[in-house]
Amino acid sequence: NTLIKSIYRDTQAYLNQEIQISGWVRTLRVSKAFGFIEINDGTFFKSIQVVFEESLSNFEEISKVATGSSLIIKGLLVESPGAKQPFELKAQSIVIEGSCSMDYPLQKKRHSFEYLRTIAHLRPRTNTFSAVFRVRSLVAYAIHKFFQDKGFVYVHTPIITGSDAEGAGEMFQVTTLDLDALPRTEEGQIDFAKDFFGKETNLTVSGQLNAETYCMAFRNVYTFGPTFRAENSNTARHAAEFWMIEPEIAFADLQDDMELAEEMMKYLITYVLEHAPEEMAFFNEFVDKTLFSRLENIVNSDFGRITYTEAIEILQKEKDRFEFPVEWGTDLQTEHERFLTEQIFKKPVFVIDYPKDIKAFYMRLNDDEKTVAAMDLLVPGVGEIIGGSQREERLDYLEKRMDEMGLHKEDYGWYLDLRKYGGTRHAGYGLGFERVIMYLTGISNIRDVVAFPRTVKNADF
Ligand code: 4AD
Ligand code: MG
Repeated sequence: NTLIKSIYRDTQAYLNQEIQISGWVRTLRVSKAFGFIEINDGTFFKSIQVVFEESLSNFEEISKVATGSSLIIKGLLVESPGAKQPFELKAQSIVIEGSCSMDYPLQKKRHSFEYLRTIAHLRPRTNTFSAVFRVRSLVAYAIHKFFQDKGFVYVHTPIITGSDAEGAGEMFQVTTLDLDALPRTEEGQIDFAKDFFGKETNLTVSGQLNAETYCMAFRNVYTFGPTFRAENSNTARHAAEFWMIEPEIAFADLQDDMELAEEMMKYLITYVLEHAPEEMAFFNEFVDKTLFSRLENIVNSDFGRITYTEAIEILQKEKDRFEFPVEWGTDLQTEHERFLTEQIFKKPVFVIDYPKDIKAFYMRLNDDEKTVAAMDLLVPGVGEIIGGSQREERLDYLEKRMDEMGLHKEDYGWYLDLRKYGGTRHAGYGLGFERVIMYLTGISNIRDVVAFPRTVKNADF
């Protein structure tokens, strides 16, 4: 078998050679004496054209093959007389491996993203989704390569947890299957002490707290896994199940954290432009015409940096253009984030030093006692792509903050131990994997970069 990707990448090596291709029919046109098949073998988002003639022993049968069928084709690769593609395959034999029912929904016309979401099991067979999910796979690899080359240790943090890593209460609960059989207290509440784990548990919202424990042993670590949030926000940027990359670095502060994040972002952009040039050119042509210029600029410029307080001052001057109010102490909304990165900076920008009351309990308190050493990275087209901070390493400060926020310290004993037993300055961040794929491809809805999206009222497939 010859792979279509190899033919595109190294055409000269295959021209005028007899080859075999196995793949799926994207389109078929037939006239009296010959026909054309666009065939895709899954190795590339582009297809190749097959020409078959009357002389083929099963010409009649092949002429009736339906879109979607799988075929095995032997033939000669020749330069194409048509201008549309540089080569075509002149078929010598065609075998039908699997036929396709006539109600196959993917016909030649262009389908909307909305429609394709309703057939998530079939959409990877389209050019766009073929390109998106190949890039997703490549970026996952590039992330591992970036951190592994720097000596970071990959830690697998648990999916089921007994603590709320963000303290935001947006968790999916985990219980034993049979709700009716769950033990109850006298008041009729579920008695988690008698449930499987002996306590209330949930799906993790972040691997950070567990990653911090390994950071205090291995120095530089990262997690890369699925996380879950029961945020009831039906937006183009939120999913209930998404993947997150969370590095954690010891003997490091917020500046080190931002440097790592900037280096990683530039690495990923360079990597994907270098290793998926055809897919990226496709996105630049059909999905977002500004993609290339946007990405290429970034690699050669320094990311912007601004404090939250400065950001609020800028936004207040423009407050008429926003739906949501901007006041010191409130969180930035996506419209504010996008304005800062798209209109003011026109490149990625770190916003640092947020008010402590809108950030998680573990962030390090700044000397002003009002803000914490937090950083969010905002990028054009997406808004927040990274959230991170320097961690509070001072036990007394951390305990005070947890009390203020009403967290149960007894649930976090192991986390507090890290501050008692040789704790160091340390920092980390979380990169939303789907958001980085959106950023790199120009795709504007998170539902189109997840194979089987989990969003509000949507757990199909
Ligand atoms: O800002 P977040 O909530 O930060 C954390 O969870 C920290 N524990 C990370 C750390 O410091 N180790 O989430 C980090 C990133 C966001 O910037 C965003 O890109 C992504 O995760 N994210 C989501 N992506 C898709 N759907 C959602 N519902 C998301 N929530 C957060
Ligand atoms: Mg955040």
